[in-house]
Amino acid sequence: MASRRDKIKGTSRDIDAWFKITVERSTQRIFDDAEYEGNGCNMVPSGAWKTEAPTDAYIVGLKELPENDDSPLTHTHIFFAHCYKNQAGWQDILGRFARGKGVLLDLEYLTDEKGRRVAAFGYNAGFAGAAIGIDVWAQQNLNPSIEYPSIDPYPNENKLIEHVKSRVEAARKGGQYPRIMIIGALGRCGKGAVDFALKVGIPENHIIKWDIAETKKGGPFPEILEADIFINCIYLNQPIPPFITKDMLDGDRKLSVIVDVSCDTTNPHNPIPIYTINTTFDKPTVPVKTKNERPLEVISIDHLPTLLPRESSEAFCNDLLPSLLELPNLS
Ligand SMILES: NC(=O)c1ccc[n+]([C@@H]2O[C@H](COP(=O)([O-])OP(=O)(O)OC[C@H]3O[C@@H](n4cnc5c(N)ncnc54)[C@H](O)[C@@H]3O)[C@@H](O)[C@H]2O)c1
Repeated sequence: MASRRDKIKGTSRDIDAWFKITVERSTQRIFDDAEYEGNGCNMVPSGAWKTEAPTDAYIVGLKELPENDDSPLTHTHIFFAHCYKNQAGWQDILGRFARGKGVLLDLEYLTDEKGRRVAAFGYNAGFAGAAIGIDVWAQQNLNPSIEYPSIDPYPNENKLIEHVKSRVEAARKGGQYPRIMIIGALGRCGKGAVDFALKVGIPENHIIKWDIAETKKGGPFPEILEADIFINCIYLNQPIPPFITKDMLDGDRKLSVIVDVSCDTTNPHNPIPIYTINTTFDKPTVPVKTKNERPLEVISIDHLPTLLPRESSEAFCNDLLPSLLELPNLS
């Protein structure tokens, strides 16, 4: 919660603005309560925004508000409400704002003058997606008969890099590094995927970067079958032909791992129409049955930045903070 009262002094970010920051306690968060306290934040119990926040407070969150609550919303809320694309329950949430005369500042629609999202988790999603994809490839080579296990968030990026790097080295046994094809390589997710691959030692010439220029001829693309790992990072905003089809997978291929970072799983124009479910941290991969003996596993986790909660949160915060500091100028 942030209300326009006192000047916050001496925070690590040196927030030189007229905000009083109040933080709810949480045991689930990657940042300990003590980190906020140490930066001069006032701490309150979890859920206190509803009962304690002054009417002029901005309630800053991230994802949906708690379910099973129909009470009117009276504050200005800043979060991803997921209600402008006909998502389930959109009438309920917008109805609560209407009844309480509250205001919704939806983070999904915070854009710059070029219409690009100001704060998004793309880079970390691509980074984490590449990590899981490369690790699944290592698992296929090290322990082909053992299903890829559940995954937990990492305390920091270095631990993740260290883990995957050692697995790649063990899996390649002095031989070739995997070839990784990234489509949408020039976007946020794509850049994150490229950076992760480089950080675990994949040589630059093993990373094939495609974007609009390479796909404009229209799919499907047999080139994808020549990579070991295919990472899809495009922003799908119009119907396009598929990048790969189920039939193609029956023939010769090196490809054994697909990471669908874009996760347009249920979109009728999903360019990877070979699987139908989103996978999870508990069960990160879904196998695709083909006539080929070589395995093929898809990772389609739609909350990949959770793998690196600290870095993902910090990157998002850095992008969002300049806009938050402009709040007093909102009319
Ligand atoms: N799985 C997750 O956890 C997760 C998290 C964040 C974002 N995402 C999703 O990832 C996708 C990409 O997000 P972003 O922030 O990187 O977007 P972005 O706009 O920064 O980048 C998208 C890139 O895709 C390219 N592109 C678009 N259509 C293409 C095509 N037909 N062929 C080749 N390249 C094409 C664009 O030129 C651009 O470089 C979005 O759908 C977003 O919702 C997923």
